Amino acid sequence: MKIIMLGAPGAGKGTQAKKIAAKYNIPHISTGDIFRANIKNGTELGKKAQTYMDQGLLVPDELVVDLVVDRVGQEDCKDGYVLDGFPRTIPQAEALDKALAAIGEKMDFAIDVDVPDENIIRRMGGRRACVGCGATYHLEYAPTKVEGICDTCGKELILREDDKPETVQKRLGVYHEQTQPLIDYYTAAGILRTVDGTVDINDVFQAIVGLLGA
Ligand code: AP5
Ligand code: ZN
Repeated sequence: MKIIMLGAPGAGKGTQAKKIAAKYNIPHISTGDIFRANIKNGTELGKKAQTYMDQGLLVPDELVVDLVVDRVGQEDCKDGYVLDGFPRTIPQAEALDKALAAIGEKMDFAIDVDVPDENIIRRMGGRRACVGCGATYHLEYAPTKVEGICDTCGKELILREDDKPETVQKRLGVYHEQTQPLIDYYTAAGILRTVDGTVDINDVFQAIVGLLGA
């Protein structure tokens, strides 16, 4: 099963993508995580991406598309995958469709996790990310067992640089302008499914499983 997660920054795409990947035993491919790993490791790609990310802007399409097309061509993706944070622009969606069509494939579902902007602002301020493994928590909605310490790897949790309130506002603006048009794009393709992302994390997941089929 090949799935795209759509939704505003902080809508819960990453949270749900991880659960989908675990349940259906398919890779979770997050372009945000790939960029953050590159920034942490000081790569050329990381240096280029960081200048955009810290401002809440999208990384240029040409830095993203080949990376994802290569990744989905790998052996572990042959039974499907869940894309989180990609595509984010119409040109990215078109490039993905073209690359898949060339090998006789297409995406199965685009799931829009729908959350109004007011809820997003509150969520982002409470999000904490692990400096070690990148796991994501929330002070209120997804707390760790020991405050400030990752449940998985025991490392420290931080507020992401781009989760500061001014940058969140900017990212929301960029989302409405550049990413929201994908809702129409995948509606036209007949694969859009919408879930209410304002309910509890497990209830959002149950709704998604209901759409995908057990
Ligand atoms: P990326 O990492 O993809 O950021 P994003 O899309 O802004 O998404 P987030 O990771 O912020 O949020 P999410 O929807 O995954 O929410 P989460 O599950 O964490 O990208 C970062 C940057 O990289 C971009 O700004 C851009 O610069 C660049 N980039 C990446 N991909 C790109 C591309 N394709 N093209 C160009 N540039 C690209 O949840 C948020 C919080 O809420 C968490 O704390 C969570 O615990 C909590 N939560 C989740 N669900 C619920 C719920 N149901 N109820 C209560 N709390 C919840
Ligand atoms: Zn960790």
